[in-house]
Amino acid sequence: MAEGTKDEGTSNAMWGGRFASGPAAIMEEINASIGFDKKLYAQDIRGSIAHATMLAHQGIISDEDKIKIIDGLNTILSEIKEGRFEFSRKLEDIHMNVEARLATLIGPAAGRLHTARSRNDQVALDFRLWVKEELQKVEIALTALISAFLTRAEEHADTVMPGFTHLQTAQPVTFGHHCMAYVEMFGRDRARVRHAIEHMDESPIGAAALAGTPYPIDRHMTAKALGFREPTRNSIDTVSDRDFALEFLSIAAICATHLSRLAEEIVIWSTPQFGFIRLSDAFSTGSSIMPQKKNPDAAELVRAKTGRINGSLIALLTVMKGLPLAYSKDMQEDKEQVFDAAESLELALAAMTGMVSDMTIRADKMKQAAGSGYSTATDLADWLVREAGLPFRDAHHATGKAVALAESRGCDLAELKLEDLQAINPAITSGVFDVLTVEASVASRVSFGGTAPQEVRRQIAWWRSRN
Ligand code: ARG
Repeated sequence: MAEGTKDEGTSNAMWGGRFASGPAAIMEEINASIGFDKKLYAQDIRGSIAHATMLAHQGIISDEDKIKIIDGLNTILSEIKEGRFEFSRKLEDIHMNVEARLATLIGPAAGRLHTARSRNDQVALDFRLWVKEELQKVEIALTALISAFLTRAEEHADTVMPGFTHLQTAQPVTFGHHCMAYVEMFGRDRARVRHAIEHMDESPIGAAALAGTPYPIDRHMTAKALGFREPTRNSIDTVSDRDFALEFLSIAAICATHLSRLAEEIVIWSTPQFGFIRLSDAFSTGSSIMPQKKNPDAAELVRAKTGRINGSLIALLTVMKGLPLAYSKDMQEDKEQVFDAAESLELALAAMTGMVSDMTIRADKMKQAAGSGYSTATDLADWLVREAGLPFRDAHHATGKAVALAESRGCDLAELKLEDLQAINPAITSGVFDVLTVEASVASRVSFGGTAPQEVRRQIAWWRSRN
């Protein structure tokens, strides 16, 4: 046997009954999850306290043992919190690290804690509690971002900017309207978060290894103690299910995609060529060589975090896709993906909230850009339909001619002479000039959900009453 591949120690204290020797060093390394699942310590201890309380209530363990167990668990909780706990890789994971320490602290009573449960339902519980709490944090972070956008939308309900399709100037819109588009997106993300919390609000503990348990446990009691609506209904599904983690990652990926689109817009808007916004010093960096530069690093990193988060979703989907029911050790690979995605998402949401709140909106530049690129061409076509009775297709054609003429003269539509426009279509009167300005254009779009300032204000009020 090659050096370092066999551990000289004895077999595992938790499950070593039928093992003569310990694992190969490399086995220990691939098997251990303590390096990352120690993050679940608070959930693990909370779950064990609820379980021990229920066991005693049901007469499965004595009250005396229950008290020892709970005291010991609370000691361990402080030890970990205060950095005094020594995690051991030999003990694989957080569950066995806590249990082994409990045995040292309270003796044989510790061995009774694992009655009527398994690490399979234990890990399902701990991780679900963690994901549920994380979703609650994401919900709060999304509310803060939405609120930052509502403030900016209110300030800029009248600020005209070019609206784009294909990143080509399309029609004038207001910056407030554009902000509210993101409010809708992040509002849907938040609704997905709330729905997922509701979905995963079922307690796994008591499913045991996969088949349930012969002990007279009360799963409703533990569910209630741990803040779940009810216990899960099928013990096999309970220990096999990682939908809750996949759901978290899917939501994170969609939300990160929204953040990334916004980040991309911030990068574009803050270029000198666009100049629509100026990022605050707090959310940009300088260049070590080019003194004039102000780089949108935070936006770029938010955009990049999306790659990591999407990667985590695909990684866990791939881990889960071929697994037979019920638990397989493959599922231990769920945690790092979720932890990494959670950290990235929290950071991205916070950075974006900061950028949105702090950035300076350059209304003059936006307005100037809004008027270029013949952005009111559709208004001219609509005027021809409304005022001159032309079919829309003919109006579109006539407007195209007007745009070509303005282009050849190097001027805006509003700068064309009335005679020139009448040469294209004699029905055109001077009234047409009322709709060719960008302000008139946005003010006219009063349809529900449209860009008119009054309509945008109505949508802001709707969201204000729900945020
Ligand atoms: N560390 C394991 C995990 O994260 C805990 C469950 C282990 N269960 C087992 N039967 N080996 O998945």
